[in-house]
Amino acid sequence: MPSSPLLLTTIDDCRAWSREARKTGRLGFVPTMGALHQGHAQLMIEAGRQCQHVAASIYVNPTQFGPNEDLARYPRSLDADLALCASVGVKAVFFPTDAIMYPHGRHHFTAVEVPGLTTIFEGASRPGHFTGVATVVTKLFGIVQPDDAFFGRKDYQQWLVIRRMTEDLNLPVCLHRVDTVREADGLAMSSRNRYLSPDQRLTALTLSRALSAAKARLRAGETSVATLESCMHDLISAVPAIELDYARIVHADNLGDMQMVDPSHPESAVALVAARVGTTRLIDNIMLPGHND
Ligand code: PAF
Repeated sequence: MPSSPLLLTTIDDCRAWSREARKTGRLGFVPTMGALHQGHAQLMIEAGRQCQHVAASIYVNPTQFGPNEDLARYPRSLDADLALCASVGVKAVFFPTDAIMYPHGRHHFTAVEVPGLTTIFEGASRPGHFTGVATVVTKLFGIVQPDDAFFGRKDYQQWLVIRRMTEDLNLPVCLHRVDTVREADGLAMSSRNRYLSPDQRLTALTLSRALSAAKARLRAGETSVATLESCMHDLISAVPAIELDYARIVHADNLGDMQMVDPSHPESAVALVAARVGTTRLIDNIMLPGHND
C-alpha cells in the first residue's frame, strides 16, 4: 500500500515541509481543485519523473468562480483524492481553508491581472475567472515554493495565462505543460464530467469529434482557418443538445486570429472549443498541426 501524503493545512507547515524537501532535490508541484482523475494523476506522474519530491494542493478557489457558477456544487472527494495522490507518489498535499487563503475575505485581496489573454474566450464567458486563477496560483507558488509546476493542456488558456504571469512576475518556478488525458472514446478528462448524465456524456463527445474532424481536414490538405472552423461549427451545431460558445482556431502563443494553419509548423495553432451540455460547461482543444491527440 503506498503511504498517504502528509496533509498540510497551514502556510507555515507547508513552507517548512517544502524547505526540508528542497534540501534533497527538486520539488514538483501540481495545483488542483480536487475531484482528481487520471488527468491529474498524469501531471503528478510527470512531476515525479522530473523531480525528487512531489507536492499537490487541493483547494476549490472561490475567486475563480463567477456568481452564477458551480462553486457550491463543485465536487469534493478528499479521501479518494488522497488515495490517488498516494498511488502516484505525492508526498504532501496542501489543503487550506478559505480563511487561510483569503484572510481579509474573498472580495478583498491583491489581484494578479494578465492583460489581453484574460478577457477573451473563457475570460469573455467567465469575467474575472483568470484573475482568480492567476492570483491563487501566485499565492500557491509563494506558499509551496516549488522548483517546478505542472499544468494540463486541457485548460489551454489557463496554461498561457499562468505562463505569461510567471514570466512577467519573474517567479522562480519552471513550468511544464502536460498533454490532455482522454477517455477511451476521446472525451477529455475533467472533474466536471461527473455532472453529465449518460446521455449528456455521449453528447459531450461531439466536442472531441469536432476537433478530430478539423485535424483530419488539415491533414487532408485544408489549411484555411475559416473552413476548418466551419467544419467544427457544422458538426457541433448539428447536435441540438449542445449550446456552442466558440469553436475557433487561433495562434498557439497568444490566441490571436490567423487565416491559415501552416502544416509545416507543428503546434503553431490551437483549436479551442467550449460548449454547454445541460448546465455543464465543457472545454477542449487540440494543437494543430499536432501529433498527440
Ligand atoms: O486548473 C485548476 O484546477 C485550477 O484552475 C487551479 C490551477 C488549481 C487554480 O485554482
